[in-house]
Amino acid sequence: MAEINYGGPVKVAGGDTGRGCRRFGGKVALLTGAARGIGFASAVRLAGEGARVCITDRDARALEEAVGIAAAAGVQLHSCVMDSSDAGDVAQRIEEVSVTVGGIDILVNNAGGSLHTPFQFMQESDADWQRVMDLNLMGAVWASKAVLPGMIAKRYGRIVNFGSKAGRYGSLIAGANYAAAKGAVASMTRQMAQEFGPMGITVNSICPGVVMTERTSSLWSERRTAEEREQVLATIPVRRYCEVDDVAATVAFLASDDSAFITGASLDLNGGQAMA
Ligand SMILES: NC(=O)c1ccc[n+]([C@@H]2O[C@H](COP(=O)([O-])OP(=O)(O)OC[C@H]3O[C@@H](n4cnc5c(N)ncnc54)[C@H](O)[C@@H]3O)[C@@H](O)[C@H]2O)c1
Repeated sequence: MAEINYGGPVKVAGGDTGRGCRRFGGKVALLTGAARGIGFASAVRLAGEGARVCITDRDARALEEAVGIAAAAGVQLHSCVMDSSDAGDVAQRIEEVSVTVGGIDILVNNAGGSLHTPFQFMQESDADWQRVMDLNLMGAVWASKAVLPGMIAKRYGRIVNFGSKAGRYGSLIAGANYAAAKGAVASMTRQMAQEFGPMGITVNSICPGVVMTERTSSLWSERRTAEEREQVLATIPVRRYCEVDDVAATVAFLASDDSAFITGASLDLNGGQAMA
């Protein structure tokens, strides 16, 4: 299989789309904000393991490119333009995908980010807070509401939310609005896990430290000096940053039946950085 550049500065070997595992045969997965970065890598991983996968994103051109890149590597992805910050659009598009691609078994609420809003608390406007909350928290709420009736009907579902190390321990590059939104995602995950566990649906969240996607690497160099960046790396016990493949493998685990007894978890993915 060809190498896939997931959109970050580092080329990641895309040959590993599941090491021959076929954990998702007959399953349909929908990932939000997945035209690039972590979402795209996770989509390729799930499709590589046999899922029918639909990537959604608000960037139509990036979606087209992502589908082409995956196809060139022998992986088929469906796509749908969807703005995760718009409740009406999320409801309508997910209904359409459920018809054209199939009823959704796996939802990965990946769309998120700090939207380059100010790092300093006093500079974050109410509008900044609203935008960050809408994308990171409400986007996951709206998408979950759209897929849950189908999951409840078949008494099966996997919802994987995206928290962050920021939501658990604070951030070195993003402000309070982002940390609060990601903390809320983790709290919502625990509550949803209690409510929907009896219906065969697990809900978990992944909390990565810095993953060097295109977006993060530019923020990282804007908001931290080279010396600070070196110091941070020295505090990560495994001595490297998280790669999109690390996250994709974790998404696949939480989306699979290998994790059937895990629900309500906020899984740290930070190379031991938080502990250190
Ligand atoms: N990269 C990191 O260091 C890091 C660390 C912890 C958590 N996370 C979380 O992981 C998730 C993915 O992050 P990433 O770094 O891969 O992001 P990214 O910025 O590389 O990609 C995000 C994608 O989301 C799309 N998008 C943005 N706003 C959208 C909207 N309103 N509707 C639909 N699509 C939209 C973008 O077009 C882009 O394709 C996010 O929830 C992020 O908060 C990332």
